[in-house]
Amino acid sequence: MATGRVVSSFVSILVIVAAFWYSRDDGHAMLQSRLQDVLNAMLEVEQQYAVGEVRIAVGYGACKDVFVHGSKLLGPLSPPQRTAHFSAIQSLSQLKEMYALFYTAGSAAERFVSNDTLFAELVEMASALPGMYSALGGNAPVMASRFAKEGAKVMLAARRTPYILEQLPEKVIVAGEETTGSDDIHLIIEYKAGESWGAYHTPRANRFIIHSDDSNPTLSTVESFGERLSKFRPHLLVVGGLQMMDNFPFLPGMREERLRAVRDQMMSMPPSTRVHFEMASFTETELLAGLVEHVIPYADSLGMNEQELPNLHSMLRYGNVSLVADFNPRVASVLDQMRDIFRQLGELRVSGRRLTRLHLHTLAFQAVMVATDSPWTHTLAAATKAALTANRHVCGNPQISIETARMLMDDGFTLSEASGSGRVIFDNQHPVSCWKEQGGRVEVCIAPVLVCTTVRHTAGGGDNISAAGLVLQV
Ligand SMILES: *[C@@H]1O[C@H](CO)[C@@H](O)[C@H](O)[C@H]1NC(C)=O
Ligand SMILES: *[C@@H]1O[C@H](CO)[C@@H](O)[C@H](O)[C@H]1NC(C)=O
Ligand SMILES: *[C@@H]1O[C@H](CO)[C@@H](O)[C@H](O)[C@H]1NC(C)=O
Repeated sequence: MATGRVVSSFVSILVIVAAFWYSRDDGHAMLQSRLQDVLNAMLEVEQQYAVGEVRIAVGYGACKDVFVHGSKLLGPLSPPQRTAHFSAIQSLSQLKEMYALFYTAGSAAERFVSNDTLFAELVEMASALPGMYSALGGNAPVMASRFAKEGAKVMLAARRTPYILEQLPEKVIVAGEETTGSDDIHLIIEYKAGESWGAYHTPRANRFIIHSDDSNPTLSTVESFGERLSKFRPHLLVVGGLQMMDNFPFLPGMREERLRAVRDQMMSMPPSTRVHFEMASFTETELLAGLVEHVIPYADSLGMNEQELPNLHSMLRYGNVSLVADFNPRVASVLDQMRDIFRQLGELRVSGRRLTRLHLHTLAFQAVMVATDSPWTHTLAAATKAALTANRHVCGNPQISIETARMLMDDGFTLSEASGSGRVIFDNQHPVSCWKEQGGRVEVCIAPVLVCTTVRHTAGGGDNISAAGLVLQV
């Protein structure tokens, strides 16, 4: 739209004039006051919405992540003669060969250890190392905790181990069998850029994850959860944690069978219960294809990040995954991909469900798309809360400080990459933009993230953010 461009060039002239007029310190002060306006406006929206009496059921799984430095765990051992790849690890020499392979590539990997004795020995070694620490792992418990902290009544599909029960908020109902939890430890072996191990050098920081957990990857809690779901009568069923199925040596046909069990659980929900599926990064294309066939068509709502969006888009469109994804994509390009997914999955009506909500979380902004004839409410508030949660999570502080925040979004964004598309100009007093499109059938909101510049946490961000947005829309 021509007017949009005129306004935007007028704004940029203003910015140039402003830059010329003010000294550097004044410029900084102006930026801070802009951030303060944006933050105040967003906090004001957040304060207007409280979470009602909602019951949310969250699947599947939980584990204990034990973090350890590779240089301390494997470093003292003699490096292997060669690097090699295995689908599962049976011996210490196989572990060393495969670790060296991914270490020299600097790429993340996760593998199953089929030798319980070996894994127990490694965990014991790890427990004695300086700098080791542990944390609750898996997407489902992160989402469950966030829902509970926001005031929802939550039931989680996970086995009841002493560690998991201790880590979760007390009011989260953990539906699963009691176990000691010795077998759901995931050992996260981290290494830093530029380290070396004998003749092997790593170009970048990354992690190699090993476990001998056959409960989480096979989604062992699905059946027992099902027995309790009908009594709990959730308003929302959240399906997540399925990336634990990645790189697990399933017997032929077993993975499909487990995905069908998830599908059946989603289908067993009454129409009054909405179903959300939270994506994650899946390294196996075959698993993503299985999700596209058995799980995604049975969800009303999807949540994902900027890496997962192009993969899902490409998988739905071409049956393959895109190799490179932009870490800071333009609003216009993600909106186009979201529209494609929304159209394709919104027309599909298997089991009476169709996609009516799509939430994309990126570093710079939150985008929420909903069908206006669906029961999802408060889209503006949800996008706002998701954006605020992104800052709080990364900074590790519920109090947002503009001193440690900056905005990566430009002064506006285009609605689509198609030529002649309209442009939205950023308004500090109303920083979250919402509009209707496609003849009023679809509402879209974009909220800027006040990106935290003092990073405390990165893992689990997407889960916290997705949950914070969802809880206001149920
Ligand atoms: C399993 O690991 C133990 C302990 O490291 C080792 O003694 C044993 O040989 C391994 N088993 C196989 C089949 O490699
Ligand atoms: C996926 O398939 C499409 C259409 O066949 C092709 O254009 C594209 O290059 C493929 N992408 C990858 C990563 O293989
Ligand atoms: C995100 O979730 C984890 C696990 O529940 C929690 O420790 C962390 O504080 C959360 N962050 C925010 C900002 O809610």
